[in-house]
Amino acid sequence: PASRASLPAGFVIGHRGASGHAPENTLPAIRRAAELGAPMVEFDVKLTRSGVPVLLHDDRVDRTTDGRGPAAGFELAALKALDAGAWFAPAFARTRIPTLAETVALLSETGLDANVEIKPCPHRETETAAVVAEELRRFWPAGKRPPLLSSFEMASLREALRVAPDLPRALLFEGLPAPHTLDALIGELRPVALHLWERVIDEGVISWARLRGLELRAWTVNDPARAAHLHALGVTAVFTDFPDRILSGAG
Ligand code: G3P
Ligand code: MG
Repeated sequence: PASRASLPAGFVIGHRGASGHAPENTLPAIRRAAELGAPMVEFDVKLTRSGVPVLLHDDRVDRTTDGRGPAAGFELAALKALDAGAWFAPAFARTRIPTLAETVALLSETGLDANVEIKPCPHRETETAAVVAEELRRFWPAGKRPPLLSSFEMASLREALRVAPDLPRALLFEGLPAPHTLDALIGELRPVALHLWERVIDEGVISWARLRGLELRAWTVNDPARAAHLHALGVTAVFTDFPDRILSGAG
């Protein structure tokens, strides 16, 4: 393949860690993102039955563990008993679902920046944001760049603003709402960024965001050519499962 100018490291965010190389939303995936040169990781946080924040994408444990059932039905000890790595590859067998606290310790150790996506189970939008924002507000290491909070759930962002107004927020969308709806949300929630599905991003969206002083990040981009195009258009960063591919420009 033709060689391309390499993209700046700051353009790359490890999606659920480096989830193309290690099981998503686990400590090995986050460590791998750091090893591959990503300065920042994104991960998804929801609550156990009793309200402990842990890393997990789906409402159920089925896809990413050897267990079955809704995550909200598990106490922490039961979630910790699950294997969250063998489904990905035998080498990751016995990898455990990490708590947010364990993850913050690894972020501190590796120096990684973080985008904490608040991913509540149904009907727990406010509670999840309250716990996550409070834990981050109280236990984030002093002197470390604050975590960027994002969510598809506007109720969660509203609660994050109430509990931890100083932590920066990003609005997450798969499709953009109508302009007047979006402007109302921006006025209320005061985000620093929009995190959009990469397919809805074009020059119009980018200039629209720039006019409002918002950063724009695109998920999920695993194709180096697409990443280079988005970089040229002025997108701030891409979430990728393969930080190495995007940074090397190898197709
Ligand atoms: O936060 C960006 C991206 O992770 C949103 O989609 O489904 O991968 O959490 P999803
Ligand atoms: Mg996510």
